[in-house]
Amino acid sequence: MLRNTIRNCSSKIATAIKSSPRGFAATPTETADAVVVGAAGLAVARELALRGREVLVIESAGTFGTGTSSRNSEVIHAGIYYPAKSLKARFCVRGKELLYKYCCDRGIPHKQLGKLIVATSVAEIPKLENLMRFGIANGVEDLRMMEGSDAMRMEPELQCVKALLSPSTGIVDSHSFMLSLLGEAENCKATLSYNTTVVGGHIEGDRLHLHISESKELANNIVDSPVLPQLILIPRLVINSAGLSAVPLARSHLIYPMPEDGGIGVHVTIDLSGLVKFGPDVEWISGPDDISSFLNRFDYSVSSDRSARFYPEIRKYFRNLKDGCLEPGYSGIRAKLCGPKQPPQDFMIQGEDVHGVPGLINLFGIESPGLTSSLAIAEYIVSKL
Ligand SMILES: Cc1cc2nc3c(=O)[nH]c(=O)nc-3n(C[C@H](O)[C@H](O)[C@H](O)COP(=O)(O)OP(=O)(O)OC[C@H]3O[C@@H](n4cnc5c(N)ncnc54)[C@H](O)[C@@H]3O)c2cc1C
Ligand SMILES: *[C@@H]1O[C@H](CO)[C@@H](O)[C@H](O)[C@H]1NC(C)=O
Repeated sequence: MLRNTIRNCSSKIATAIKSSPRGFAATPTETADAVVVGAAGLAVARELALRGREVLVIESAGTFGTGTSSRNSEVIHAGIYYPAKSLKARFCVRGKELLYKYCCDRGIPHKQLGKLIVATSVAEIPKLENLMRFGIANGVEDLRMMEGSDAMRMEPELQCVKALLSPSTGIVDSHSFMLSLLGEAENCKATLSYNTTVVGGHIEGDRLHLHISESKELANNIVDSPVLPQLILIPRLVINSAGLSAVPLARSHLIYPMPEDGGIGVHVTIDLSGLVKFGPDVEWISGPDDISSFLNRFDYSVSSDRSARFYPEIRKYFRNLKDGCLEPGYSGIRAKLCGPKQPPQDFMIQGEDVHGVPGLINLFGIESPGLTSSLAIAEYIVSKL
């Protein structure tokens, strides 16, 4: 629908806009009910569609899930690490429950493997005990402290003095999960418009007006030159779930990397094909210009010399790790709201009460455990409407 509108008039509009110095007067407008920006807001899109909203998902890429949602560890987190009463704690624990049920009901590949958090020296034991208290306060009730010898019997290569067992941690095939959300949203008449970017917006007569362009029109845009929209969309509700671009889209400028101490260290995960992955580690980056961010033009390359840092970290718990056995994997970028040496930030979900824009909900800082939390975030947003 939108795609056709854009395709049909794009060249005409471009000319019209260029010769119209007064701005958007010549730009065609369309109204819409609920617009979700970023196809990884699929859980929210599905939930809205199930409740009878007419949902339009606008995605800058050619398909769904090409952003952070396909560049993560695919772990279903238990909800241990996050401060009590934080949104992360609450959505992770609830989201985990919803996600296991969702995957079981629909045959989506997943495994409840359980996880060991290990203390590799006596000095680390109090930290481990702290984590157990955090977990219990967050409602993770099945945690079990184990002697090192018992943990090492479970994992013969492992070296540790004590371990915390989290039975409810697992892994999920995030692509199958997203595909299923998409299918269910589309069954309820949600529409997806790929290759379409929200470049900005303004408020007019109490309604948010979204500025829309075809992604390919933006691809050659000169950095920092103003972008003229090809279409103005006037929705009743906007969910800004643009991931790394959610903040630039809402027009503030922050940086999104991740702090080492706030992270959970170089850990081991196994994917559903049995491949063992170590990581992620931490590298601070600064954000590109807004348009590059909307088009997901981040540098995702992984330099092989980063492995030098991994060997000593991993050998703390896997002493027999052989030299030269690590290969670079892939990278993802965390949507951080805080900078280096700052305390970790919670998820931020802002509605009209916070920013004053009617019908706009911003999802900021949806870093880990965002995948685990997605169904709970969707449930929360829809319950607030
Ligand atoms: C290294 C790493 C490991 C992680 N591991 C885990 C884990 O094990 N378990 C877990 O629960 N979570 C994990 N996470 C967190 C999880 O991956 C994220 O919370 C989640 O994927 C975020 O989804 P999103 O929808 O917010 O963002 P994204 O998946 O990035 O989606 C945003 C979408 O918006 C589109 N977009 C952007 N700008 C625009 C625009 N202007 N107009 C239109 N579309 C636009 C993008 O193309 C993209 O498709 C990890 C994250 C990282 C970085
Ligand atoms: C999106 O754009 C790419 C590149 O221009 C193109 O190959 C692809 O078919 C487009 N996808 C859709 C769904 O329009």
